Amino acid sequence: MKIGIYFDSTSGNTEVAARQVQEFFGDDLAELNTISEAGFSDLETFDLVIFGIPTWDYGHLQSDWEELWSELEETNLSGTTVALFGLGDQYGYPEWYLDAMGILHDLCAEKGANIVGRWPNQGYEFEASKALTEDGSHFVGLALDEDCQPEKTEQRITQWCTALLEELTQKRDIAAEVAAV
Ligand SMILES: Cc1cc2nc3c(=O)[nH]c(=O)nc-3n(C[C@H](O)[C@H](O)[C@H](O)COP(=O)(O)O)c2cc1C
Repeated sequence: MKIGIYFDSTSGNTEVAARQVQEFFGDDLAELNTISEAGFSDLETFDLVIFGIPTWDYGHLQSDWEELWSELEETNLSGTTVALFGLGDQYGYPEWYLDAMGILHDLCAEKGANIVGRWPNQGYEFEASKALTEDGSHFVGLALDEDCQPEKTEQRITQWCTALLEELTQKRDIAAEVAAV
């Protein structure tokens, strides 16, 4: 299995989280890239692509994501398995918590990605978020908050990465069963 972690970060929080995700899988398995350096051209070479995105300026994409958005809009993601993690500040920006992760999720879905790694929304306090699933029960990816809940980050990353591996294994088993019929 080959994992590509793609992120960008203005004040460094998403970078620290991305490094922790890479550490979980190990650098033999998981490659770490900033989108500003790597762009999106090699995504199809990975079994799993993990996108890390912070929300800035009242519900907007972080500046590097903003700049490269049109490139992602032109990228075909059908057949690519994508997981997302987002950074935000739930007390400081409660009406826009993790909106950028939700916006990125919607584009990935539109481009045909197979999206994995949703995350329960218990243990957070916010008013609104574009990063919630349709039924509101989960976030569309891992929700992190280095501003208000930094002590929870490490454990959240470990739990999410563990669940992600289980989800991928299950999907692979189901695909093998279907192929065997
Ligand atoms: C000016 C400013 C605007 C922000 N706007 C939002 C926002 O709309 N929603 C949110 O969830 N977090 C918001 N945040 C919080 C950042 O997403 C958070 O600090 C994040 O960890 C930054 O990630 P980075 O260091 O990787 O850039 C904002 C922070 C600042 C300083």
